[in-house]
Amino acid sequence: MSSSEVDHLDSEGIKEHHGEIIYDANGFIKKIYRKDSQLNRRIVDSYVGMWKEDKEDFSNKDDNIQKRRENAQTMTNAFYDIVTDFYEYGWGESFHFARGYKGDTFEQSIKRHEQYLAVKLGLNENQRALDVGCGVGGPLREIVRLSGAHITGLNNNGYQVERCKAYAKKLGLEDKSEYIKGDFTTMPRELYGKFDSAYAIEATVHSPKLEMVYGEVFRALKPGGLFATYEWVTTPNFDENNPEHKRIIHGIEVGAKYCIIQILHYIILQASFYIFEFKHRKVILSLL
Ligand SMILES: C[S@@+](CC[C@H](N)C(=O)[O-])C[C@H]1O[C@@H](n2cnc3c(N)ncnc32)[C@H](O)[C@@H]1O
Repeated sequence: MSSSEVDHLDSEGIKEHHGEIIYDANGFIKKIYRKDSQLNRRIVDSYVGMWKEDKEDFSNKDDNIQKRRENAQTMTNAFYDIVTDFYEYGWGESFHFARGYKGDTFEQSIKRHEQYLAVKLGLNENQRALDVGCGVGGPLREIVRLSGAHITGLNNNGYQVERCKAYAKKLGLEDKSEYIKGDFTTMPRELYGKFDSAYAIEATVHSPKLEMVYGEVFRALKPGGLFATYEWVTTPNFDENNPEHKRIIHGIEVGAKYCIIQILHYIILQASFYIFEFKHRKVILSLL
């Protein structure tokens, strides 16, 4: 199996890799044992292979960045095929960070982070929203429950999409959500102009170039639609000529499969959003 085949595991491929256990909510140890070990090895090799040349070289040479951009899909899918069960077991149903306050439990901080987006977008039961890069759907389910909005989860990882569907069925959220396996840099046409709001939580950083995904989000929104995102970005304090800054950023890119962490507001302006709120780790955007 080549790396591009690994990138596009179809439903048979997903079952081959994960077994019927994909539909079980629990059973981490069983899930790990049931995986096809040879296929697992090929997926790990495919991911590690992407970083062979520049794992230690944090100068982030243009050629290496270009190669990672070209292979973004394969790299990201291989990464999530490997880590999803571990994330669910150790992190939960939401694969993002959150600001914690004194006395918070971990779960409280995660849920507040998600609810904040729903409130800022003003979502309600008459609206449709798009979750761009929805993981296994933890944020989506929380936002559906809070707002009553109908939410479409878009995700290019087939295994995670199957997990989303299994959770929706189990929790009776099938009429309030749908899940699409697709690439957010080339969204299915039927999504264009369909949504009152869209949000993305730590997902658009996987785009080879941020304008590719933000351009598609723009097209998916109705006129006047809102987009809110939490994203990994370098701030204006990032100094390209500071080796320590470069080492830290490159470490994040290697550890979390990002193509290159980019400077956000420049790219957003290219995609024609009007930014009306930009806070530390929080961005709320509207169409111009
Ligand atoms: C760090 S996870 C965050 C998931 C979710 N937003 C959450 O907070 O739980 C990033 C997600 O982006 C998805 N993703 C990455 N590249 C994608 C692409 N090109 N198209 C669609 N989804 C993508 C991954 O499969 C993964 O589900």
